[in-house]
Amino acid sequence: MKNFLLAPSILAADFARLGEETTKVLAAGGNIIHFDVMDNHYVPNLSMGPMLLKSLRAYGITAPIDVHLMIQPVDALIPEFAKAGASFISFHPEASNNISRTLKVIKEHGCKAGLAFNPCTSLHYLDYTINSIDLILIMSVNPGFCGQPFIPNTIDKLFQVRCLIDNKGYNIRLGVDGGININNINQVATAGADMFVVGSAIFNHRNYEEVINKMRLELKKTNNAFH
Ligand code: DX5
Ligand code: ZN
Repeated sequence: MKNFLLAPSILAADFARLGEETTKVLAAGGNIIHFDVMDNHYVPNLSMGPMLLKSLRAYGITAPIDVHLMIQPVDALIPEFAKAGASFISFHPEASNNISRTLKVIKEHGCKAGLAFNPCTSLHYLDYTINSIDLILIMSVNPGFCGQPFIPNTIDKLFQVRCLIDNKGYNIRLGVDGGININNINQVATAGADMFVVGSAIFNHRNYEEVINKMRLELKKTNNAFH
């Protein structure tokens, strides 16, 4: 049985009630909280910073938190997010001046490290880094906003990365981020994803548990297809 993780993206939640929304989505079956950080420079939007992450921890959120950095420069804020309570920190390789240094900073601060790939970013960034990462996040939209449509050629990219991971038996999570919903989660899981970032498909629904259960049912079909 594949161990699939659902990662609700609180970028799509009601910011005025973030603690409550986060608690609610975890109680509804979310496994790991996806925390999108945007700087209005690397991406054309502004979102959340380390103080907000610290407040969520202080509020009582103990689940793992995956901080997705869409910022440039990258390194300076990593210690702040680690101190605030990040579990994973992911960044976009083309936003870093020196990828191995950025990975080292993440590890030195006790977090797991991820690399995020935009739809047109080449996978060659994995050539010399795959030994040092815990998560590969394949973007299925161009980062910046919730609620964008899924880009279909992500499927091929996921499959390529799944082969890379499995050929050498790496212990790396393969996440997919952007436009995931009940209708396509099975397809991305079949292509190899095992962590699903979901923003608007959960938070725009009045009953989080209902949509998460439907996603789990779809994932169960994928599991059956594997056996
Ligand atoms: C996009 C963010 C995503 C976003 C996903 O820039 O990185 O995590 O919140 O939201 P949906 O699921 O609505 O595409
Ligand atoms: Zn994200």
